[in-house]
Formats: sequence, structure tokens, C-alpha cells
Amino acid sequence: MNVTRGLKQCKLISTAVESDTIQTRRKSQHHYLDMDLSTLFPPQVAIVSATNEMWTSPLCSEEEKLIEGSVAKRQREFRAGRNAAHAALERLDAPPGPLLRNENRQPVWPQGFLGSISHCNDSCVAACAAAGELVSIGVDVEPLKPLSTGIARYIDTDEESAFMARHGELPRRLIFSAKESLYKCYHPLIRRFFGFHSVSLDIDISNRRFNFTPTEACKVEFPQALEFHGRFLVGESHLYTGCFLTAAASATD
Ligand SMILES: CC(C)(COP(=O)(O)OP(=O)(O)OC[C@H]1O[C@@H](n2cnc3c(N)ncnc32)[C@H](O)[C@@H]1OP(=O)(O)O)[C@@H](O)C(=O)NCCC(=O)NCCS
Repeated sequence: MNVTRGLKQCKLISTAVESDTIQTRRKSQHHYLDMDLSTLFPPQVAIVSATNEMWTSPLCSEEEKLIEGSVAKRQREFRAGRNAAHAALERLDAPPGPLLRNENRQPVWPQGFLGSISHCNDSCVAACAAAGELVSIGVDVEPLKPLSTGIARYIDTDEESAFMARHGELPRRLIFSAKESLYKCYHPLIRRFFGFHSVSLDIDISNRRFNFTPTEACKVEFPQALEFHGRFLVGESHLYTGCFLTAAASATD
């Protein structure tokens, strides 16, 4: 499959997963944090879950310009993500300023800082850190909703499907979420698209951690010198995954 087709297919998968959610979402849209997210990352990462106000509070003019033609749903999630990211950066004493985006839709973080944003219909998180020991981070939030089997086969490898079938206690979106946060973590470094079947996840249920191995279908090279860390948390209403890369074996707890 060529890159453009792969990217289009993955976008379709992401959109299909989202529409699955919209069809089954709760009527009430109460934005709340149902758990402590701080264990998703090492302590030097500031993670902020968007408050109710953050979904509606206007951004600075440069940021608002990025969503001026967007539908209301997109404007809300963009504002939630940017406001949460500003709050996280403030905790780190990062210099204030607009968080624009590059040609790959990645947020452009202030010099010396890095981060990641995720939003679903009724939850949004931003995680930020000073660049240094941490080389990149990725975060994802998903509702605890089922995934239709028609979609799951585009996301899971055969090994992952078998693993999930053996562990019905795990949220069905775990593989999807972990791969989305993994993509956000690696894509800024690799700068090339890679699809869901490029990696196979190895999930450590008792420690709520995950790692991965590239599959035979993988067309990109993951930087060998960097150490990958993947974690997940299951709350009452949402699932969270976080990935980060460290330069070498370092204290990350
Ligand atoms: C990029 C992608 C992972 C984002 O996920 P999403 O379903 O749009 O939803 P999320 O809300 O979780 O994340 C959106 C945020 O991710 C960030 N983002 C977008 N593209 C990004 C990229 N290439 N790298 C890092 N972060 C990115 C942005 O901050 C965006 O929010 P914003 O536009 O409001 O700033 C997804 O759109 C995609 O392209 N997936 C296909 C590739 C993939 O997942 N492969 C799996 C490899 S194992």
C-alpha cells in the first residue's frame, strides 16, 4: 500500500472509530477527570485534563485563526486541547505564546519544550515536558466504548486480536489508543507515516505498561538509540495511554 493510500485509510479508521463513539455516546456531556493521570508519565511531565471552561474559552487570535472555518465540534476540541496545553506549559514555566501547528498537524511547542494533545468527544488531555531527558511524548484518550469488529481488524494484528480475545477484561480500544499515542510520540522524529499494522504491541496488564515490536509490514525505522515506554490507565469512563522516549535507560518513575 502506498503512503497516501495508507494515510487515507488510517484517517478513515480514526474517523470510523470516532463515529462509533458518537453513535453510542452518553447524552450528558459532563467533562470531568475520573482519575489521577499523573502516573501515565514520569513526574517531570505536566498533564492537564481540560476543564469545562477550557472547551469554550477563546484562544489568542493566531490560534483562533487556525479554526476560523471549522465546525463547532472541531473548534471546541481545538480550544480544549490548546487551553489544556497552555495550562500544562505554565506549570513548567514555559514562555507564553501561541501554539501553532506544522504541516503534519503537530502542535509547534515553545523552544525547549515538547508535548502531545488528545481529545475525544467528552474528554481532552495535554501532556508537556521540558526537552532533555524526555525526547518525545504521545498521549491519547478514548471513551470506554466497544469497537466494531469491522474496524478492529484494520487496527489489530492477529497476535493482538488473539491477546484481546483472551483478555476480555481489557478495554476494546486499548490497542487503538496505544497505537495512536505511539504514532504521536514517534511521528515528530520519524516524519513519515506508518499504519496500524506496522507494530505489534506487547501488553503487560499487571503493570499497565506496553511495548512494541515492528512487524514485517513496517516500512519505517524506529530510532534504536531511544528507549520506548508505554503506559495505560483505565478510568470509569475513559481509557488513557501515554508513550514517551528517553535518550537512554534513565529513572522514569
Ligand atoms: C495523528 C493521529 C494519531 C491523531 O489522532 P486523532 O484520532 O485525530 O485524535 P486525537 O484527538 O487523539 O489527537 C489529535 C491531536 O494529535 C496531535 N497530532 C496531530 N497529528 C500529529 C502528528 N502527526 N504527530 C503528533 N501529534 C499529532 C494534534 O495536537 C491533534 O490535536 P489538534 O489538531 O487539536 O492540535 C491520527 O489522526 C492518525 O493520523 N492516525 C493514523 C496513523 C496511526 O495512528 N498509525 C498507527 C501507528 S502504530
